[in-house]
Amino acid sequence: MFNSKIIGTGHYVPKTKVSNDDLSKMMDTNDEWIQERTGIQERRWADKALDETATTMAVKASEMAIQKAGLKNEEIDFIIFATLSPDYYFPGGGVQLQHLLGMPTVGALDVRAQCSGFIYAISVADQFIKTGMYKNILVVGAESQSGLLDKTTRGRNMAVIFGDGAGAAVLTRTEDNAKGVLSTHLHSEGQYAEELALLSPNPSKWVKHFENNEEDLSYYPYMNGPFVFKHAVTRFSEAIVEGLEQNKIESNDIDLLIPHQANLRISQFVQKKFRLSNDQVFNNIQKYGNTTAASIAIALSEAVEEGKVKENDLVVLAAFGSGFTWGSVILRW
Ligand code: COA
Repeated sequence: MFNSKIIGTGHYVPKTKVSNDDLSKMMDTNDEWIQERTGIQERRWADKALDETATTMAVKASEMAIQKAGLKNEEIDFIIFATLSPDYYFPGGGVQLQHLLGMPTVGALDVRAQCSGFIYAISVADQFIKTGMYKNILVVGAESQSGLLDKTTRGRNMAVIFGDGAGAAVLTRTEDNAKGVLSTHLHSEGQYAEELALLSPNPSKWVKHFENNEEDLSYYPYMNGPFVFKHAVTRFSEAIVEGLEQNKIESNDIDLLIPHQANLRISQFVQKKFRLSNDQVFNNIQKYGNTTAASIAIALSEAVEEGKVKENDLVVLAAFGSGFTWGSVILRW
């Protein structure tokens, strides 16, 4: 059987920086509250004047990843696109990416696993490569969430956290089973779907959308913050332990942990629990906020660019998010 290996990473973030002070002009919040609870200093918002969307950002991240992989667009056999903020309700963004990247008629699949989307997408790519069905797969996480947020005091618990951006990775076939994706671990618990969700547009009450009822808050995302926080710290840890146990490795063998950038406090909790040093954990939430399916992909690309991921390093990716969904990927670089 083959193994899969990441051979190129890329990312793109919009130019528009939105600081905590900028947000405090739109809603009742302040820099101190945001930094203390989340670690976030600023985030990027997609540029409306440039018609930036999840897909257009995904194109830029993908181009960088494909170029770093040393491949041409037409050598990609399959696209997996993780996003909760596609340009259209349907079709998903994967097909747009196929078109905008000028690729032949390869298959394109959208993954709907929110903050765990990139982990799920890597896992799907890994299975396709392991079975020999595809050789080169483009995996993308991209989000344009700023347009969805309720940017008033009513929506401040979410509006201060989420940001826009895109990240991508190219996975290819390798016959070296000691390298690449060693294992992936996926979970969900749908009983908590509504604790972090955007309930509309929803075909079962489609007509409401056209009534344009401003009192209908189901068009804004909702998050039960403290509840999500409690589950996140538990599930993040479980996903990492599962990966370590399956590969018979200890937490101090981890060269770099890239946690989904949900909240710096969550990352710090996990870091402490596994007794990892600052050098063993990559965080960039301070400058981008929580970019959902894009977060691990952007962080991985930045870590590679900064030389923080070296040949043979043990890299652990872990995520938790809406669904609830959570999971991990254990990689030997
Ligand atoms: N600015 C100022 N005050 C705010 C605020 C903001 N942006 N957002 C909420 N508050 C207020 C609340 O209204 C509440 O006020 P009250 O005590 O007068 O009712 C108070 O701050 C505490 O709210 P609470 O929601 O209990 O805060 P918290 O300490 O749990 O922090 C989060 C809120 C959202 C930062 C935190 O719950 C969290 O990070 N949760 C997980 C989020 C996450 O990771 N989501 C993505 C998962 S992938």
